[in-house]
Amino acid sequence: MTTTATETLLDPETVASYRRDGFVHIPGVLDAAEVERFRAAAQHEYDTGTALNRDDQIFKQVVNVWTYNETLRDLTLHPKLARLATELAGIPVRIWHDHLLIKKPHNQAPTEYHQDAPYWPHANCRHSLSAWIALIDVPVERGCMTFIPEQHERRDIRPIDLTDAHDLFEAAPDLVFHRRVTHPLRAGDITFHSGYTPHTANSNNTDEFRYAHVNIYADRELTYDGKPHVCTDPLNLTVGQTLPDDHFPPVG
Ligand code: SIN
Ligand code: NI
Repeated sequence: MTTTATETLLDPETVASYRRDGFVHIPGVLDAAEVERFRAAAQHEYDTGTALNRDDQIFKQVVNVWTYNETLRDLTLHPKLARLATELAGIPVRIWHDHLLIKKPHNQAPTEYHQDAPYWPHANCRHSLSAWIALIDVPVERGCMTFIPEQHERRDIRPIDLTDAHDLFEAAPDLVFHRRVTHPLRAGDITFHSGYTPHTANSNNTDEFRYAHVNIYADRELTYDGKPHVCTDPLNLTVGQTLPDDHFPPVG
């Protein structure tokens, strides 16, 4: 990362590699004190938070923690992360939602290959991307992310069953022999991936919890398309409207 006269955080090569591959690894974004503060808050949410999916085999998923956990709000709305996301996206963004994704020790269940954006009720979305933030060291054995490069322009793949190892490859058989890139992370590192980049996270085969916090950013101007989704269902939105700023805050 560099700070240049134009006040950008990322050098042009890093932005270009994200736009070519559909993902990028940015090391050392959070310092040790931030990591510890956010990891302790994530542990508290694991112990007390309401999971979207109950604590199933893959992970405990706690959505929109920024709306009630003051510490994790600082992470979801973190100005540095928002600037990185904006530089990568190249357009103004808002938070679509956040989620904690916590894998228990020896959970024995990967998060199977999928794209994210097909699950979302978005129309006219020029770009969306996730910041996957490691709040503990995440070597391969603890469930880091693996990406299929150069596939983020694809719009032909249906929503995939996260629990089914074969589903993405049945939907897109040409990806079976495509190369894959795995990124182990140190605590405080981030990978950003496009909403259409196919990806997986392997199981946690260690004695420690895997703490990941994910900020999802999306085009500030996208419109609601009416598909069911846990983050928009309670809001009585009108198809075609932009997302309301109080629930989906503009950042960056
Ligand atoms: C995971 O961390 O287990 C999956 C993250 C993702 O699908 O974006
Ligand atoms: Ni995903």
